[in-house]
Amino acid sequence: MPPVNVAVIGSGFMGAAHVDALRRVPHVNVVAIASVDRPRAQELADQFGVPHVFGDWRELLARDDVHAVHNCTPNNLHFEVNKALVQAGKHVLSEKPLTMTAAESAELVRLAREAGVVTAINFNYRGYPLVQQARGMVARGELGDLFVVHGHYLQDWLLYDTDYNWRLESSVSGASRAVADVGSHWCDLVQFVTGRKIVRVFAHMFRAHETRRKPRVAVETYKGKEVGAPQEYDEVPIDTEDGAFVLAEFEGGLRGSLTVSQVSAGRKNRQWIEVDGSKAALSWNQEEPNTLWIGRRDGPNEQLIKDPSLMDPNARGYAHYPGGHPEGYPDGPRNLFRNLYRYIGAGHTPATQAPDFPTWEDGHYEQLIVDAAMESHRTGAWVDVAAGGAK
Ligand SMILES: NC(=O)c1ccc[n+]([C@@H]2O[C@H](COP(=O)([O-])OP(=O)(O)OC[C@H]3O[C@@H](n4cnc5c(N)ncnc54)[C@H](O)[C@@H]3O)[C@@H](O)[C@H]2O)c1
Repeated sequence: MPPVNVAVIGSGFMGAAHVDALRRVPHVNVVAIASVDRPRAQELADQFGVPHVFGDWRELLARDDVHAVHNCTPNNLHFEVNKALVQAGKHVLSEKPLTMTAAESAELVRLAREAGVVTAINFNYRGYPLVQQARGMVARGELGDLFVVHGHYLQDWLLYDTDYNWRLESSVSGASRAVADVGSHWCDLVQFVTGRKIVRVFAHMFRAHETRRKPRVAVETYKGKEVGAPQEYDEVPIDTEDGAFVLAEFEGGLRGSLTVSQVSAGRKNRQWIEVDGSKAALSWNQEEPNTLWIGRRDGPNEQLIKDPSLMDPNARGYAHYPGGHPEGYPDGPRNLFRNLYRYIGAGHTPATQAPDFPTWEDGHYEQLIVDAAMESHRTGAWVDVAAGGAK
């Protein structure tokens, strides 16, 4: 299989994570990093042996030696950058959220189909071995009829009113924060595991801080806690949610609930799901990803430890080390990128082969869920997740 040449846009938290993961994917050359933070892009390029660095991502568009691009820029650039890339004929993996509105995400799906390129979105939690195992168990009916899905996504990095990052600015991040930023991961994960889409939501959003003190010097993602108290602040109003309670109805009448919060002390990135069925239940926690809990009423509960020899054939390929050797956050994207480049390298298109990675259609559907949650919060009513836009 000929190698695929990949460029990464953005050199922040995720840009660096993508370069790291891509360097561990077979048949992929990372050929360029583009970022407005050129010195940091150069540092990454030197560290990982990437030959080209650009200050302007547009320089990638006309290059025939760039076949695919990963968009790791802040949310407000996703639409413009993703659109230009597909129109230039590049395959694109976008960071989530796909865009800031469902109208934009619908347009991107349409443009990508017209261009005939392959698209993906980094719902990275699908890439964990035990998440794949959980999906297989549900699909084989090992849980029986599904009754309830529940869980939470809790963080503490925005606990204090002095915590600040571009995600707090709706003009950069979008009208929803906690639900769109991390709640979307949870929704994608439970839809993936259960194989059922969320079709209706009832959401109540909340803000712990109506104003925050914005440091006069920009703070990198998740770095506020390490920096200590910056010296000078401006007090600014906040118009996005610190958290939410979301009730969800899935296809087939399955029901569920999500609590999402970015102000829960001690919870770093606790994404936790539980699926309860008529025969058994399962739960998985992102912070302890090498254990899958299986609950039973008429027998002892089980803890399945990530061990390829104990896992289903379909999930085994997502584990790269023997049991007792934990795999974690950097390995999920690596697995999804492996699937993506295997697919592109084999010359597949969505018309010829169903993708085994999350696509822009999934990103668009998440955007519809976020929009429905915001409308529900505004109206105090259940809202259907409209199927409009990109059927
Ligand atoms: N899938 C995940 O688990 C996950 C985790 C964190 C962030 N994300 C997503 O990744 C994206 C980036 O988040 P982050 O935490 O890396 O942010 P970040 O602030 O750490 O990095 C953003 C990068 O984009 C660069 N940039 C800004 N404007 C640019 C432009 N015009 N051209 C080129 N580069 C530009 C910045 O210099 C910086 O290097 C966001 O959309 C976020 O939602 C996903």
